[in-house]
Amino acid sequence: MKDDPIIRPERPGEYGEVENLVRESFWNVYRPGCSEHYVIHVLRDDPAFVKELDLVMEQDGRLIGQNMFMKTVIEADDGRIIPVLTMGPIGITPELKRKGCGKKLLDYSLEKAAELGFGAVLFEGNIGFYGKSGFDYARKFGIRYHDLPEGADDSFFLCRELIPGYLDGVTGVYQTPKGYYVDDADVEVFDKSFPPKKKLKLPGQLFG
Ligand SMILES: CC(C)(COP(=O)(O)OP(=O)(O)OC[C@H]1O[C@@H](n2cnc3c(N)ncnc32)[C@H](O)[C@@H]1OP(=O)(O)O)[C@@H](O)C(=O)NCCC(=O)NCCS
Repeated sequence: MKDDPIIRPERPGEYGEVENLVRESFWNVYRPGCSEHYVIHVLRDDPAFVKELDLVMEQDGRLIGQNMFMKTVIEADDGRIIPVLTMGPIGITPELKRKGCGKKLLDYSLEKAAELGFGAVLFEGNIGFYGKSGFDYARKFGIRYHDLPEGADDSFFLCRELIPGYLDGVTGVYQTPKGYYVDDADVEVFDKSFPPKKKLKLPGQLFG
């Protein structure tokens, strides 16, 4: 019988293994191939990276999931700068998806983030998954996504307060940390250090 998964901090000696896990988990999901394994590779060295929330999930000695957070801000309409967190990539190994592991990892991570005193988490995601862990549309909190034209669909943009009322009286624009924007050419080069994998154009991918 398999042991229950444990969640623990990522160790430096396993960065490559974690990046491979992220690659497996995101491959062909949002686009042919993926860039998230390179994103995590780059973000670990970013000053906004939250080391205490760099987490992996392990079962029977094997890594099966990972999650990470970055510090960012809401530029409030009244001129204040509100510190918040953003999250991801979060991934579960393909063969264990939809068995409750992602929710367990997410809920544990959010609990840790709250213990560290962070006030709110905002990011792009699917309400079908994140709604079950207390996320709602960020627009309901009065927060807008940067660079989105007026009236555009913003249902991908989600928020959860970790301190109840943290965003009371705040309206403003959320900024994605710059570190998430990676160059496709750099991803291509980085990807060559992993085992070859076929990129497929599949229905439902957001980018192509
Ligand atoms: C998204 C991800 C982390 C979720 O982890 P998981 O272990 O597969 O999800 P769980 O089993 O914990 O899901 C809990 C519930 O959330 C919902 N859910 C999970 N994934 C969903 C999805 N892709 N779309 C809609 N709802 C989803 C379901 O209701 C699920 O319960 P159910 O399976 O009984 O219906 C995982 O599927 C994954 O690694 N996907 C690829 C990478 C990715 O998309 N990461 C998130 C980027 S925002």
